[in-house]
Amino acid sequence: MPRKLLVTSALPYANGPTHLGHITETVQTDIWVRFQRMRGHDCLYVCADDTHGTPVMLQARSEGITPEELIERIGAERRRVFAEFHIGFDNYYTTHSPENRHYTESVFKALDEAGHIARRIVRQAYDEQAQMFLPDRYVKGTCPRCGAPDQYGDSCEVCGATYSPAELKDAVSVISGTAPVERESEHLFFRLGDFEGMLREWTRSGTLQTEVANKLDEWFGAGLRDWDVSRDAPYFGFEIPGHPGKYFYVWLDAPIGYMASFAHLCARTGLDFDAYWRPGGGTELYHFIGKDILYFHALFWPATLHGAGYRTPDGVFVHGFLTINGQKMSKSRGTFITALRYLELLPAEYFRYFLAAKLGDGVDDIDMNLEEFTQRINAEIVGKLVNIASRCAGFITRGHGGRLAGRLPDPALYQEFVDAGERIAGLYDGREYSAAVREIMAFADRANLYIDQHKPWLLARDPDRTAEVQEICTQGLNLFRVLMTWLRPVLPRMAERADDFLGARSERWDAISTPLLGSPIEPYAALASRLDLARVNELVAGPAPTGTKEQAAAGAQAPTLSIEDFAKIDLRIARVAAAEQVEGADKLLKLTLDTGEGTRTVFAGIRQAYAPEALVDRHVVLVSNLAPRKMRFGVSEGMVLAAGPGGADLFLVSPDAGATAGMKVK
Ligand code: MSP
Ligand code: ZN
Repeated sequence: MPRKLLVTSALPYANGPTHLGHITETVQTDIWVRFQRMRGHDCLYVCADDTHGTPVMLQARSEGITPEELIERIGAERRRVFAEFHIGFDNYYTTHSPENRHYTESVFKALDEAGHIARRIVRQAYDEQAQMFLPDRYVKGTCPRCGAPDQYGDSCEVCGATYSPAELKDAVSVISGTAPVERESEHLFFRLGDFEGMLREWTRSGTLQTEVANKLDEWFGAGLRDWDVSRDAPYFGFEIPGHPGKYFYVWLDAPIGYMASFAHLCARTGLDFDAYWRPGGGTELYHFIGKDILYFHALFWPATLHGAGYRTPDGVFVHGFLTINGQKMSKSRGTFITALRYLELLPAEYFRYFLAAKLGDGVDDIDMNLEEFTQRINAEIVGKLVNIASRCAGFITRGHGGRLAGRLPDPALYQEFVDAGERIAGLYDGREYSAAVREIMAFADRANLYIDQHKPWLLARDPDRTAEVQEICTQGLNLFRVLMTWLRPVLPRMAERADDFLGARSERWDAISTPLLGSPIEPYAALASRLDLARVNELVAGPAPTGTKEQAAAGAQAPTLSIEDFAKIDLRIARVAAAEQVEGADKLLKLTLDTGEGTRTVFAGIRQAYAPEALVDRHVVLVSNLAPRKMRFGVSEGMVLAAGPGGADLFLVSPDAGATAGMKVK
C-alpha cells in the first residue's frame, strides 16, 4: 500500500546566505524523500524561508533596504541554490505569506480560547535611543560571575553562567552602544506545562531517536516553563490581532510555516490540507532538523499543534552539525562555506555523495575533511562506480552494434545483487545512509572483481570469443545499473544520465528485478571525473587577492572580433588521456589528448597549478586548429584553454560533466 507522507526540512533564516550546513540538512531530507518516492510512496516535501524576527529587521536596516526586499533577495538565491543541489521540493515558500498569517492567527486563537495563553508583565532591557526592546543577544557586558568582558545578555561563553541581561555589569545595547534601561511590557505566554502528559506520551511513541528522547526527559525533569510568544514593536512579523503593537514571536509562526507552505501547495494542486494536518487523515508527517532547534520541534511544536486541534508529527529526525576539517563553520576561520561558493568550484552531487557516506541516524556532527572528501570521490565514484560502466561500454558499442547480449552469463551473481536491495532499502528508510553506501560500494567492488576476473579486454582479441565479451560486458553493465539505482536517491542527476546511457528508466526501486537484455545502449559519456585537491581546498581559501596592474591589463577587453573571425577558431572538447612532466621545463606539462578522432600532443604551461595525475580523464577545451608549434621539447599540436594570471593561479576550462571528446565548442 502506498503511504502518504509529508516531509519538511527546517526553514532557513532569511538573514544570511545559504551555507553548506543548510545544504547538509536539505540533502539528508531529499535523499529520504527520493528514496520513499522510489518505493512507490506518495511523498511530499515542503520548506520555506524563515523571514521574521529582529535579525532580519536589523540586517535590512543596516543595508538600507526594507525587510521585504531582503527576504526577496535571499529567497531568490536560496531557490536557485537548492535547485542546483537537486533538492526536490514540491514547494518552497516564505513565512511572510497570507497563508502563514492565517494559520498563525487561527492557531493562536484556538490556543487562547482553550485557555493555554497567559498574560503577564515582563521587565526587559530597552534601548531608549533605538526605541526598542532588546533580545538577550543584543545586550553585551561583563559576566556577573567570572568578570569576563564582552559577554551576551543570556550567558557567558567563558564560564558558562546563564543569567538575565539585567544582571550583566556595564551592559550596553549592541544596536546603539548606549546603556539599556529596564522597561515593563505585557507579554503573551503559551502554557507549555498544560501539555506535559501529552508530550511525555508523544516522546515515547517511537517518534524520536533514543538520544533525543533522553534529552527530553532531562527537560521534563527541569520542568516545562511558559513560553513567551509575543514581541513588542518594532518587529518584522505578524501583528497579533487585538493586541496593537504586539507581534507573534518568530518561533511561533516559523513551524506554522510548514503548514502554510503546504497550504500553498494545496491551492495549486488540489491536495486535501486537512488529510495531512488534522488527526486521523491516514497520512504521516516528518520533520528533519538540526540538534540546535530540538526544543522548538519536540516540545513547543507538538504541543502547539495538539492544543490547536491539529495532528502531531510521526517523527522528528535530528542531525548533528557539519564541520569543515574538524572545525566549526566560521567566517573568521575561513571555514564558512556558502552554497554558492561550493557550486562555483565543485559538482553538487559530490557533496551529496560525501554526506550520504557520512550520515547516520544519530545526532553526531558530520565532518567534511577536504582530503577525505577528494579521496572518497576519486576512489569510490570515479574509481569504483563509474569505472564499471566505462570499462564495459566500449566493447558493446564497438563490437556489437551497441546492443546488450540476450542473456547474463552469471545470473546467480545478478540475483545476489538484487536480493540485497531490501536490506539496503531498510538502511535508507532508517536514515542509515552511511551504512547503505558502504554496502553499495562493497557490491561495486564485486562488480569490478567480476570484470577483472573475466578480462573482456583479453578475450576481445580473439575473434571467436566476441559473444562471450558481449555477455561479460552485459553482466557488468547490469550490475552497474543495480548500483546506480540504489544510489539514485543520492545521485539523482547521475542516475538519469546513466538511464540515458543504458536506454531504460530505472526510477523505481524494483526496476532492477529484471536485467536489461538484448536492448540498445548509447555510447558511454563520462559520468564523473576526478577531483583535484588543490581545487577542493579553494573552498576554504580566503577571498582571492586583488590583482596586480599587469593582471588588470591582461584582463582588459581585447579588440572586437567579427563573428566570421570567431568562427575560424575550432574549439573542441578533448579528454586528457595522459599527462606528464617535461624534463627541464618547470612550467610545462606534456598532455596527450584524446580528441575523439585520435590523439594529439599539447605542451601546456600549467605545471605549477596541476599535478599531472589529477588531470587524467578530465575534459578540457582544445583550440584544435592552431598551427602546430615546434618547441624545445617537441611539437605542440594546439592549445588548451585556462583562466587566471598564471603560475599556480591557473584554472583549466572544463565542460560540464557529460561532454565528450570531439564535441565542437560553440
Ligand atoms: N529558522 C530556524 C528554523 C525554523 S524551522 C521552523 C533556523 N534556521 S537556520 O538557518 O539557523 O538553520 C536551518 C537548519 O539548518 C536548522 O535545522 C539547523 O540546525 C541547520 N543547520 C545550520 N547550520 C548547520 C550545520 N553547520 N550543519 C548542519 N545543519 C546546520 O534554525
Ligand atoms: Zn562568566
